[in-house]
Amino acid sequence: MQKTVLITGATSGIGKAAAVALSRQGFHVIIHGRDAAKTEVVRQDIITESGNTQVSAITADLFSMQDIREMCTRIHEQFPRIDILINNAGSLMSNVREVSADGIEKTFAVNVTAPFLITHLLLDLLEKSDDARIINVASNSHQLNAQPDFNDLELKNGYNPLRAYGNAKLFLIWNTQHLAWRTNVKVYSLHPGAVATSFGKNSNLGPLLNIISKMVRPFFLSPESGADTIVFLATASTVPGNSGDYYVNRKPAKKSVKYFSPEREDLIWNYCLHQTGIITY
Ligand SMILES: NC(=O)c1ccc[n+]([C@@H]2O[C@H](COP(=O)([O-])OP(=O)(O)OC[C@H]3O[C@@H](n4cnc5c(N)ncnc54)[C@H](OP(=O)(O)O)[C@@H]3O)[C@@H](O)[C@H]2O)c1
Repeated sequence: MQKTVLITGATSGIGKAAAVALSRQGFHVIIHGRDAAKTEVVRQDIITESGNTQVSAITADLFSMQDIREMCTRIHEQFPRIDILINNAGSLMSNVREVSADGIEKTFAVNVTAPFLITHLLLDLLEKSDDARIINVASNSHQLNAQPDFNDLELKNGYNPLRAYGNAKLFLIWNTQHLAWRTNVKVYSLHPGAVATSFGKNSNLGPLLNIISKMVRPFFLSPESGADTIVFLATASTVPGNSGDYYVNRKPAKKSVKYFSPEREDLIWNYCLHQTGIITY
C-alpha cells in the first residue's frame, strides 16, 4: 500500500529535498507551504524531479494557529491516513523580538507550538497507520545556544534570536521524548547538519553575526545531504535506538542534559498544551 507523508516547510531547503527523495521512493507526498502560488510551483518541480505525480500541496502560515487548525481540518477531509509526519518547518528570527498572530514569540511559535499543534491534530490519522512515524527537525543549536529561563519561556526579557532558537529546539526535543511515552507512534528528533538553504538568510542577527554566517555558508552541506537522516528515519525498516531519541547522521546521539529535568520537560509540555488551546483550564 502506498504510504502518505506530510512534510511541513517543503517549499525550500531540507524539506523540499526530503520531498523529492520520498517521492522518488514512491510515497504520496503532501507538501506544506505558507504561500499557495509558491507551493504549487514547488509541487510541479517535485513531480518533474521525481517522476511521481502523487504530490499534493497544502498551505498554512505556521505563525497562525487558526491557519494550522484549518489546514489539519482539510487534511482530515482529504486523507484517511497519514503514515509519516515530518515537522520540518522552522526559522531563525531577527534581533528584534516579534510575536505571532496568537501573541506567541515567533521563534517559539514556528519551532515549538506549530509542530506541537499539528502533531496533536493529526495523531488520529497517524494512529491508523501500522508503521507511523513522527520526525521533528531540531538542531544542535539546542547544545550551542540554549539558555532557557523557566519563568520566561518566550524571552520577554533577554531575547536574542540565537538564544530563542536554541531554546526552541531544546523544547522541541523534550516534547519529542515526552510524546514517545504517550503514543505507540514512533517519534524522533534530529539535527540535519549545517546545511546551505534559505535558513537564516534573511535573519538580521546584528552586523558581526551577519558577516560570520555569510562566510561559513560555502562550507555547508547540500540540502540533499541535510535531508538524509530525515529520509532514513522515514524509510528504514529498522531504526536504531528508541522512540523519543535524537539523531545525528542516522544514529541516536546525545542530547544536551544541561537544563534537563523531568519536571522541566513536563513544564514545557503543559505550557504548549495551554498555548495551543488544547487544554484551557
Ligand atoms: N539549514 C541548517 O543549517 C539547519 C541546521 C539545523 C536545523 N535546521 C532546521 O531544518 C529545518 C528546515 O530548515 P531549512 O534549512 O531547510 O530552511 P529553509 O530553506 O529556510 O526552509 C524552511 C521552511 O520552513 C518554512 N517556514 C518557515 N516559517 C514558516 C511559517 N511561519 N509558516 C509556514 N512555513 C514556514 C519555509 O517556508 P517559506 O519557503 O515560505 O519561507 C520553508 O519552507 C528547520 O526546522 C531548521 O530549524 C536547519
